[in-house]
Amino acid sequence: MTPIPAPFPATRLRRLRRTPALRALLRETTLTASDFIWPVFLTGGEDGETIASMPDIRRRTVAGIVETAREARSLGIPALCLFPYTALEQRTADCAEAWSPDNLVNRAIRAIKDAVPEIAVMTDIALDPYNIDGHDGFVRNGEIVNDETVEALVRMALAQAAAGADILGPSDMMDGRIGAIRRALEAEGYGHVAILSYAAKYASAFYGPFRDAVGASGALRGDKATYQIDPANAEEALRCVARDLSEGADMVMVKPGLPYLDICRRVKDRFGAPTFAYQVSGEYAMLRAAAANGWIDGPKTMIESLMAFRRAGCDGILTYFAPEAARMLND
Ligand code: PBG
Repeated sequence: MTPIPAPFPATRLRRLRRTPALRALLRETTLTASDFIWPVFLTGGEDGETIASMPDIRRRTVAGIVETAREARSLGIPALCLFPYTALEQRTADCAEAWSPDNLVNRAIRAIKDAVPEIAVMTDIALDPYNIDGHDGFVRNGEIVNDETVEALVRMALAQAAAGADILGPSDMMDGRIGAIRRALEAEGYGHVAILSYAAKYASAFYGPFRDAVGASGALRGDKATYQIDPANAEEALRCVARDLSEGADMVMVKPGLPYLDICRRVKDRFGAPTFAYQVSGEYAMLRAAAANGWIDGPKTMIESLMAFRRAGCDGILTYFAPEAARMLND
């Protein structure tokens, strides 16, 4: 008997990549419009103000944001996340505008919930859009004070919950804020409101264009290194996530996104909790700039970058690409 010759090569992995049908059948990860939270900027000025460092992103008025919510609904995007560009005269050392029931964010929440109730509204909890110095917390003698800031964040959270927010997103990185907000929500009859904690939030230079968008970049003195995580640290991020979950967060976020996919994967594997990534403004600007120069394919790099978050274990992604990506994926 002649022996069967040893096959060469032993394994042909290309067999399953041969046709689009085989590739579709074997695809491990999915990406759909329902994976997105769409971050949007609000203005008390003109509808459609542009932001130089964020091409194609426009600030919306309260009336305009209702159109945005309708657009989200028709595209199958389940949630919007609201960020205000607060008028200069409403930025103060005591940040009182942050918990005014009639501030831009709270008016927008009510308008969206009124007109498009099926869209989930997420908010940001931090003092930076309201603070004269651009910091997420109160500054006393050059220091960002923790506990006093947490009291203000609790007021802000309650005002947003009262306006009808579905998901609160504390992005301030003060210690103890998740527990304090959760206790206040329970005590005031808002036990149904979810918290998506910006748990693993790094002191990143990728937030630059966002600070232009909310008008905090000119004001910001110094950096946020005393409260946001050092980009060199991973174990610390895991401790932040453990702490926030134990204090009552329903979901956790890793931010920025693409440079921190290792953190996304470790958070998902270790805790199994609903995990989101924020593809932040600088990541958006970077991809848009390269595409505008013709150096990369814009739509393809957009979808590839978003798929990468899902592959890394994220349940969803906050991304400025949400409407554009949804349109492509729905086609
Ligand atoms: C505010 C906040 C920031 C972002 C979301 N919430 C900026 C910061 O921490 O300085 C950044 C989002 C982005 O860059 O797209 N605390």
